Amino acid sequence: MERTLILLKPDAVQRALCGRVLTRFEEKGLKIVGMKLMHISDELAARHYAQHKERPFYAGLVRFMTSSPVVALALQGNGAIAMCRKMMGATFGADAEPGTIRGDFGSSRSFNLVHGSDSPEAAARELALFFPEGLVEWDYQSTWIYDASEEL
Ligand code: RTP
Ligand code: MG
Repeated sequence: MERTLILLKPDAVQRALCGRVLTRFEEKGLKIVGMKLMHISDELAARHYAQHKERPFYAGLVRFMTSSPVVALALQGNGAIAMCRKMMGATFGADAEPGTIRGDFGSSRSFNLVHGSDSPEAAARELALFFPEGLVEWDYQSTWIYDASEEL
């Protein structure tokens, strides 16, 4: 089973869209194994978005991500990383397809509601950054989400 880090960004929290966005992931069959409302420190934002350090939008991105609380989620499921990226849609709201989270709720380039890990390596790194205390083990009734033969 794959795990991924999802962040409901400050615009999603301020616009009271957390419930609707989380519902989409839950309805898809993803299991919540970590969830918390938190302020991101400058240091955590810098570590999380280290790959973008030299980009012109970096300073604005860090300012945005630290401006107001986010909801950090650890979600688990078969192919969770790619599935969540698909559900999020293209980076900029105006380009994102209807039916995706960014496509349905946003039109901004930087206020794009949600972050999702983009590879298994990124997911492992980001989950360790946001959930250093570890994730929650619990029994999930997945009988009607997965055929027994696909459950890993
Ligand atoms: P994320 O990392 O947040 O899941 O988004 P992403 O993979 O779709 O996009 P990425 O290229 O990693 O960019 C990270 C975030 O930086 C902001 N951004 N602004 N103004 C701009 O040209 C620009 N480009 C990127 C977005 O908030 C994007 O999500
Ligand atoms: Mg990214």
